[in-house]
Formats: sequence, C-alpha cells, structure tokens
Amino acid sequence: MSTTSVSTQRLAIDGGSPVRARFLPYGRQSVDEADVQAVVNVLRSEWLTTGPKVGEFEEAFALRVGAEHAVSFSSGTAALHAAAFAAGLKSGDEAVTTPITFAATANCVLYQRATPVFADVSPDTLNLDPEQVASKISANTQAILPVDYAGHPADMAAIGEIADKHGLIVIEDACHALGAEYGGKRVGSIADLTVFSFHPVKHITTGEGGMVTTDNAQFAETLRRFRNHGISSEARQRQQAGQWHYEMVLLGFNYRLPDIVCALGLEQLKRLDANLVRRRGIATMYAAAFRDFPAVIPPHVRAGVNPAWHLYPIRLDLSRLTANRAQIFRALRAENIGVNVHYIPVHYHPYYRERFGSKIGEFPVAEAAYERLISLPMFHGMNDGDVEDVIHAVKKVLGHYLK
Ligand SMILES: Cc1ncc(COP(=O)(O)O)c(C=O)c1O
Repeated sequence: MSTTSVSTQRLAIDGGSPVRARFLPYGRQSVDEADVQAVVNVLRSEWLTTGPKVGEFEEAFALRVGAEHAVSFSSGTAALHAAAFAAGLKSGDEAVTTPITFAATANCVLYQRATPVFADVSPDTLNLDPEQVASKISANTQAILPVDYAGHPADMAAIGEIADKHGLIVIEDACHALGAEYGGKRVGSIADLTVFSFHPVKHITTGEGGMVTTDNAQFAETLRRFRNHGISSEARQRQQAGQWHYEMVLLGFNYRLPDIVCALGLEQLKRLDANLVRRRGIATMYAAAFRDFPAVIPPHVRAGVNPAWHLYPIRLDLSRLTANRAQIFRALRAENIGVNVHYIPVHYHPYYRERFGSKIGEFPVAEAAYERLISLPMFHGMNDGDVEDVIHAVKKVLGHYLK
C-alpha cells in the first residue's frame, strides 16, 4: 500500500474507487470452534440457566480482574442497574457522571429514581474531570459513576479521594475497559463496584451479558438477589437441598445470564489476553501512522495507564480542514471504512433535554470533543491489512480536505 499520493486519489464519495471492496465495521466479535462446542455442550446438559457454568464463569472472571466477587447479568445495562441498586441509590439521591458515554450509564441512575448530575470531562482522556466532579457534589450525592472511556481508565485515584471525603460509593462503568490497568491495578479491583459488558463489540462476548465485580460481600449478595427477583436462593440450590421454600426479600428482576452463554464467556475469557495484545498492537499501528499527520489528534494515554482499547476515537483538528466531522464521516464510510461516533453527549438526547432541561453549552470540553470525534475500527479480529486500509482511507480523505 502506498500512502505517498493518497491525497491525490479521487474520493469514493466523489465517484472514485473505495479503499476497500468490503465494508469494515468498527467492531465485531470473534467466535471460534471451541466457543461453539462449549455452547453445544451446555445445550445437551441438564442446566440451561442457573446451572454450574454461571459460577464457573463468575469465578474465572473474578480471578482475572483481581476481585473477590463477580456477579453475572443478562447485559451491561442490567449490571449497571444492579450496581446502582446495591449502591443504595434511591429517589432524591444524585450520582455524578459523564456526558461522554452511552446513555445506559446515566439511565441506571434513573431506574433507581435518582438523578444523574453531569460533570465535564478532561480534555486529554475525555474521562470525568475530578475538579468538575468535586464542584457537583451536593448534600444529595450518593455515588460517582466514572466511565473508562474507550478503555482508558478514569482518574480513579482523584475520584476515590472525592468519594472518601464525602462518603460516596464509586460505581466504575468499565464496559470499555476489561483488561485495562491503572496504577498497577486491574480494572475490576479498584472501585466499590465495577461494571462490564459482553456485547459483541467488546473484548469478550456472550452475545448480550454483563458482570459486576466487588470486594464487598454484602454488595455481592445484594447483586445476586437483585438479578434473581430478589429471592434469597436459586433453583438449583433448592433442588440440591431437596427444598421448595424460598423467600423474596427485595424487589428484584430476572437479569440472569444463562449457562448457555456463560459457557461461551468462559471460552472467550481464555482468549482475553490475546485479544488485548491484538488491540494494543492495532493502537500502536494507528498511533505511529497518525503521529505526524496533520488534522488527526490520536487518543492520549496517561502515565501509569494500560488501556484496553475498546474504541480508537481520534479527534479531528477542524482548524486544518475544509470539511466538518459529518462530511469526513460520510467520506470514510464511502471508502467502506465503518467509522462511528462515540458519543452523542447524553444531555443532548431529547429525553434528557425534556426531562432535565439540559442545554447545549453546559459542558464545553465534552461538547467541543463531540464535534470532532470519529471512532476508527478497533477489534481483535482485524488483520494488519484491515488496519492499513483504515490508515490509508483516513490519509486519503483528510489529505483531500486539508487546508
Ligand atoms: C459505557 C457503556 N456503558 C454501558 C453499556 C451497556 O452495556 P450493554 O450493551 O451490555 O447493556 C455500554 C454498551 O455498549 C457502554 O458502552
């Protein structure tokens, strides 16, 4: 592949040939024969749900992230809801969180009839800015909900200090950050409660699925009850004990992750380290390619952090370009590169605007970033040719629109 003359090539959006013949998505699962066999084995077994694979997956996961307890859920969103419940969020409470996230992060606060209070992000990582968090703490604040955006852990030391000072619970939304490290610690072993997702674009997948990790046994028990209708025992325990009696002790849901996909999760977990190596390798290739390329600002990595690279969000230096983000996005899509945008700030969504009267202009760092963000494809199944195609297309398109 030659990138020397890319800026003179006709863009696909203007009728030229696309860089790729086939569309490259921004994220995609990798499923192998061992995964398929593990699922088939459960399908032929006694327990499709509430069986032994659930505990096996949870134990292996807790061990991997260095937590005492791991409790599985039917999605990352269900896991966030359970974490918000375990943290004691209720009507009248507030939780401080970031606008640069998927809506589910803030929605879990609303599920508990509490109020999400947004704080602006730091310009380098687009993670919660601790100073902004501190300025949003009120007598009603019960929790802080940082997000490890793109797989780069939030500033957990500074957030932990604020939480300690005010007696708050930290729920870390690590749906992007399975396998990330922060200050020598593994994500999953830092916050009071840490939430993960196993959606297909994530580091490992169960189709849909999620997990909460914690070192607190009381939280773990509450989480287990919450995902099982608020009932204090599970069907298999009762069968094994020859008992029929159970008690519902809190208002829970059916948020269980079935054995069928816990078996898939167990197999996928065996490949997590390899997946992380690949994602980090792709990030290194991108960073090298764009280091001196005008108009591209690659994601920043802070000292002491080893990101998990769920996403690779670049920012466009619009002052160097004759096109805006929407035009660049369309031009890259025409080249068959599945770029995406993460995220529309949560307070921009009509639901939040109508319910809370949130206004554009409240969070200048997050909002300026949003105008410039484009996520490049990033998944462990990408080969070097895929990565080179992305680099080629970005240079071709941005080269064309360079001032
Ligand atoms: C930051 C963040 N939080 C929560 C979720 C929700 O996870 P799930 O899709 O597993 O419900 C996602 C999903 O992508 C996410 O990116």
